[in-house]
Amino acid sequence: MCGIVGYIGERRAQPVLLGCLRKLEYRGYDSCGIAVTADGLQVYKDAVRVEALAKSAPQFGGTVGIGHTRWATHGGPSKINAHPHLDCAGRIAVVHNGVITNFRELRRKLAAEGHIFLSETDTEVIPHLIEKYDTGDLEAAVVAALREIEGSYAIVVMKAGEARLVVARKDSPLVIGIGDRENFIASDVPAFLEHTGRVIYLEDGQTGSITRSGIRINSGGREIAPKEDKVLWSANEAQKGGYDHFMLKEIHEQPRVIRNTLAEFTQAEETASGSDLTREIGVSPILMLACGTSYHAALVGKYVLEDLVNIPATVEFASEFNHRKNIFGKPLGIAITQSGETADTLKAMKRVRSQGGRVIAVTNVVGSTASRIANQTIYTRAGPEISVAATKTFIAQLMILYWLAMSNSKADSRRIASLLLELRQLPNRVQQVLDNEGIIAGHAKFLSRYEHAFFIGRGINYPVALEGALKLKEVSYIHAEGYPAGETKHGPFALLGRETPVIAAVSRDDTYEAMMTSMKEIKARSSPVIALSEDGDGAVEELADFVIPVPHVDCIFSPVVNCVALQLLAYYAARERGCPIDFPRNLAKSVTVE
Ligand code: G6P
Repeated sequence: MCGIVGYIGERRAQPVLLGCLRKLEYRGYDSCGIAVTADGLQVYKDAVRVEALAKSAPQFGGTVGIGHTRWATHGGPSKINAHPHLDCAGRIAVVHNGVITNFRELRRKLAAEGHIFLSETDTEVIPHLIEKYDTGDLEAAVVAALREIEGSYAIVVMKAGEARLVVARKDSPLVIGIGDRENFIASDVPAFLEHTGRVIYLEDGQTGSITRSGIRINSGGREIAPKEDKVLWSANEAQKGGYDHFMLKEIHEQPRVIRNTLAEFTQAEETASGSDLTREIGVSPILMLACGTSYHAALVGKYVLEDLVNIPATVEFASEFNHRKNIFGKPLGIAITQSGETADTLKAMKRVRSQGGRVIAVTNVVGSTASRIANQTIYTRAGPEISVAATKTFIAQLMILYWLAMSNSKADSRRIASLLLELRQLPNRVQQVLDNEGIIAGHAKFLSRYEHAFFIGRGINYPVALEGALKLKEVSYIHAEGYPAGETKHGPFALLGRETPVIAAVSRDDTYEAMMTSMKEIKARSSPVIALSEDGDGAVEELADFVIPVPHVDCIFSPVVNCVALQLLAYYAARERGCPIDFPRNLAKSVTVE
């Protein structure tokens, strides 16, 4: 979704801002723009990619500037609606993430006072309000303007002739990067990671005034000492590192991600205090809240927690949970969100907390809003994930859920000991899947010729079918549906035939025979079948048209090897179809609107 950048220093701001905006492209956007202070205020924006903007923009001087990538909400993608937005005099420029809910009313009032609006956006009221209150002190004018604003915002404000950027946030992330005689601002750390890893996360309700060599933070009208953090991600992690796409690189990083996430969790376990909420897993029912791929991780977690901890676990789409009339009892919430910024998930977390419930957040982003709302946060150590389609963060989420279940398990100790051994072997098993990349790419070539596909699975592999279908549609634009295999007879069978391939996740557990039956029924209706199955399973090989071999693992871990194989299948199908794999149309890495 929208991305914010800001720069103030000794270098020419324009190339720095454009470089930072390129790093935010992964968030998904439809227009972009910059403003710099040079001979007054120079603004250049359009409904184009950052690369095109960089090519067509005039070369501005000036060492202070702001930039934005916009994902349209109020008003379509256009030059006029792109940020930065200006006041009447063209002296104050603002970039904004979030939604101003009372913008219509504010706009009416301001228009009656003589302010002229050019765009359809909610954002444009902000520079006009600041202009109204500006008597010379920019930060004071921003504070006065924000008093009138309802909704969510992360903003950066600049004014012609001032070597200062003013920032503010409420329910939308903003982080300041500390450099040497230069400072950066962004909605997301990767934007400036190549310049600095020293950061200050702005908190809700805070404003800040940033110059080349100073950062002042105000909270509730009082200056406070800023808290500096160090980002553990390296700039290299946010590069393609020789791969054609971030998605492929991130798929290949998964053996390491599994190791890092498990190491992190075992270390945390050693130092955990008595108030550690993870120790309460197994005491109250569990309510998992998530969206998209994270929701599929939660569904796998449900099977694992119910099996190993013997506790009921409910999984809800956060967006649906937010419309529930009642929350029954006091479940222990687990919110799963790679970005930590998904608006629906944050709202659901707040709802649980407002009812007296407690929430553990599982997220990949240190300092994210989810980590601030949660009672406790567990970090997946996946490193920055740039491709919009989640891969390594999903596998890391699964690791956390396995660990939570195993460390609170009521299963007999021999089973847990053997699962632990297998868990430690998972990086090698995933590597075995990656080694079959060539076979999977071949099957993907076949799949890429179709416009529709079904993914089926049973039990713990039902979420695998959902995730496989989601991955394929996200990156290849093939219409794909995930189904519990047993349900396909109740409707989807009407669509079977030569033109509709079916991808079946077959695991050697108690669903095996039923899956074989489903595949036979599907074959009898002429649909081509691609089966994921354990290496050397002759019965599956005989039945399916194509087999993706995966190594043997305890069936509880089959979602890991199966999903990695399906990630590769989606990737290569998309590649075959010439899709923009890392930045699919209309999608965003972090969905910060409801
Ligand atoms: C977007 C992303 C998906 C992600 C979903 C939930 O749709 O494109 O990859 O699964 O949001 O995001 P979260 O950050 O909450 O896991």
